[in-house]
Amino acid sequence: MAEAPETTEPQVRLDEIVALCKRRGFIFPSSEIYGGIGSTYDYGHYGVLLRHNLKNEWWRAMIGERDDMVALDSAILQHPKVWEASGHLEGFTDPLVDCRTCGLRFRADKLEDAQCGRKPSKHPGEFSECDLTEAREFNLMFETHVGPVKDTASVAYLRPETAQGIFINFKNVLQFARKKPPFGIAQIGKSFRNEITTGNFIFRTREFEQMEMEYFVPPAEAEKWHSYWMDERMRWYVDLGIRADNLTLRAHGAEELSHYSSATSDIEYLFPMGWSELEGIANRGDFDLKQHAKASGEKLEYFDQEKGEAYVPHVIEPAAGVDRAMLAFIVDAYDAEEVEGRKRTLLRLHPKLAPVKAAVLPLVSRDGMPERAREIYEQVRARVPAEYDEGGSIGKRYRRQDEIGTPWGITIDGQTMEDGTVTLRDRDTLEQERVPAEGLADLLAGKLAEPWRSPKLA
Ligand code: GAP
Repeated sequence: MAEAPETTEPQVRLDEIVALCKRRGFIFPSSEIYGGIGSTYDYGHYGVLLRHNLKNEWWRAMIGERDDMVALDSAILQHPKVWEASGHLEGFTDPLVDCRTCGLRFRADKLEDAQCGRKPSKHPGEFSECDLTEAREFNLMFETHVGPVKDTASVAYLRPETAQGIFINFKNVLQFARKKPPFGIAQIGKSFRNEITTGNFIFRTREFEQMEMEYFVPPAEAEKWHSYWMDERMRWYVDLGIRADNLTLRAHGAEELSHYSSATSDIEYLFPMGWSELEGIANRGDFDLKQHAKASGEKLEYFDQEKGEAYVPHVIEPAAGVDRAMLAFIVDAYDAEEVEGRKRTLLRLHPKLAPVKAAVLPLVSRDGMPERAREIYEQVRARVPAEYDEGGSIGKRYRRQDEIGTPWGITIDGQTMEDGTVTLRDRDTLEQERVPAEGLADLLAGKLAEPWRSPKLA
């Protein structure tokens, strides 16, 4: 198993990220007015916009820029036999230990990451009063009941991965899409796992969203495509601004592999709590299609017309978490610096990910500036997502936009009223230039399309 690279300390503390997300309306603890429900979060305005942009970029990379891919949106509730055949009912477990003293439950294989319930400076089992049970396997499936009668016949499960929805639709997709391997089916959707230990903000929650793609290939080509998708997925994060030094690929050891996988590599990111999985890229072989074919009695194979033979394709699966990717992008973008004796906190997000691309700000709320600013705002937002703000001092408004990661600020001042130019402020360099208001929307749309690299790399 490859070791994570030796890198310096994580660049920001998790509590700083949590505070910014709350302060600026990205992420709130769910059910907060009732005291919250553990490790469950609601996304506010800027959080929703950032998530939307992130998913959009994934769709663009998977569907928009390729000819070998189709989209799917399968149901969260599936026939219980799906989970029997997939092996989840039997094998989707984590080892669990209980502490008889504090009543808390821990993952037996992650005790070194957990805190003792009585003495938080120690790990479970290290404090003299700890009394841990033997480890036992705990199934992570979320059980529910379908219909009005709550009996064993009505048991169903919330899906723990979106992948199975793809496998059970293999035949449908093949019939309508007329694709031949290699081709992929991509899907974004919610998944649910009754995780034993959650925490680290949105890193591990019980309800989360996945972006998964199953790539069906001729068996002899599986290794080639596995390595292809590892490269592609690393490139996706880097192109969207994550610094390459904060990413690494780590191959799973045999003892770590999921029940369906013959080889998996994780893309790990240097989160505030250390190197952890961001995305998994698995070679699932023919495990899933064969299991579902056996259990359903349907043929789940591809008929190769040229060779006159049928075969079961092998599957390469890049599986990413929306919430986890969002945390990585926010962490990587977070920066704090001192400008003219004052602290400035900002998110140096890739402009394509930034929730708002441009803020239109009248310098003062008089002398016709708000009216002119509104006109300019209407033009700009017709091309790029923008926000209008006239409340408070200009410095305060800039700081607010910096913290939500808005790459460009447009200020309408006295000179605008005379010569029709505005100030264009760059979030990262703080440089300001005067540009004509006429054509500003085109200028910003052009800037948005340009390649971008994190200014932290400079
Ligand atoms: N279909 C394969 C699969 O689900 P996984 O490694 O268990 O593989 C894929 O999950 C990705 O989904 C992870 O890399 C992570 O980004 C995200 N993910 C998994 N469990 C999660 C959880 N409890 N909370 C947030 N994200 C999670």
